[in-house]
Amino acid sequence: MTNHEMIGMGVERFGEQPRPLRVPVPVAGPGEVLIRVAAVAVNPADAGMVAGTYPWAEPARFPVIPGYDVAGTDVATGRPVLAFTAHKATQAGGYAQYVALPADLVVPLPPGVNPVDAAPLPLAGLTARQLLDAVDDAKTLLINGPGGAIGTLLSQLAAERGITVVPVGHEGPVDAAVDVVGGAVARSAFDRVRDGGRYVTVVPEFWVPGGPFGTERGITPRVLVVAYRREQLVDLVERLAAGRLTTKVGAVLPLAEAAEALRIVARAPGAPRVSGKIVLVPDN
Ligand SMILES: NC(=O)c1ccc[n+]([C@@H]2O[C@H](COP(=O)([O-])OP(=O)(O)OC[C@H]3O[C@@H](n4cnc5c(N)ncnc54)[C@H](OP(=O)(O)O)[C@@H]3O)[C@@H](O)[C@H]2O)c1
Repeated sequence: MTNHEMIGMGVERFGEQPRPLRVPVPVAGPGEVLIRVAAVAVNPADAGMVAGTYPWAEPARFPVIPGYDVAGTDVATGRPVLAFTAHKATQAGGYAQYVALPADLVVPLPPGVNPVDAAPLPLAGLTARQLLDAVDDAKTLLINGPGGAIGTLLSQLAAERGITVVPVGHEGPVDAAVDVVGGAVARSAFDRVRDGGRYVTVVPEFWVPGGPFGTERGITPRVLVVAYRREQLVDLVERLAAGRLTTKVGAVLPLAEAAEALRIVARAPGAPRVSGKIVLVPDN
């Protein structure tokens, strides 16, 4: 491998498992930051990137290297950073030794914050933050996957706003429900919402077949698609650094085990169960 090459875990056609590919180290263009990756979180959407079901803004360019959430070092300054790859637009994946991203997507990581703890924050944290805004007039909130990445962060943010997060098994109607699972589990969350309450899902039907609900009992279902908001990511990082927000990391694996990580996230037969985010660490 030359100085200008790196290992990225990616696919050369849809349906393959991510495997080590020798690819050029990306070149940071004007207004971009080259990051040496220290930790990359594995998200359910990464599986769609290798399967070809992910909705990129433009046709996918191969090799496809997945990955939304990157913690590492700004190569130019030596400073720790956290980044959201905005894969839909950039197609720049974090499952690699280096990634180059527009500077707007990269925020400083305060010293002392472990990159493994920070890596799960961008996608799940931004989603949780935007879900909170969608239900912030609720006094009671049901999250149907409270132990997942979005669920744990949303639970903490909601509690700070004075919203009571009710346990999944709790009887009785709630002001708002957030679906992070989809399918039949989504329906049962919807059924718990009081008349005229709020229901928001982040699992639209392209991820989980099932069909959207219509308006019922004065509840208008809403699909939330996360949008990048730099100031929200900065705020989330500040909370993490101050100990007011914690991520839940279930396993740390070498980057080379990306395929196994995706099997675990997809709950593939025979794959071990991991509660919490899987974070991949490149050999850097
Ligand atoms: N719309 C958007 O912009 C957007 C953004 C980010 C993510 N998402 C989507 O949001 C979903 C959640 O993401 P995440 O990162 O929070 O995932 P995650 O960390 O894997 O959490 C998923 C949660 O759902 C629970 N769960 C999964 N399957 C279940 C089932 N069949 N029955 C009951 N509970 C089940 C899990 O329970 P256990 O803890 O017991 O495993 C976990 O609590 C994914 O589908 C992801 O693609 C959407």
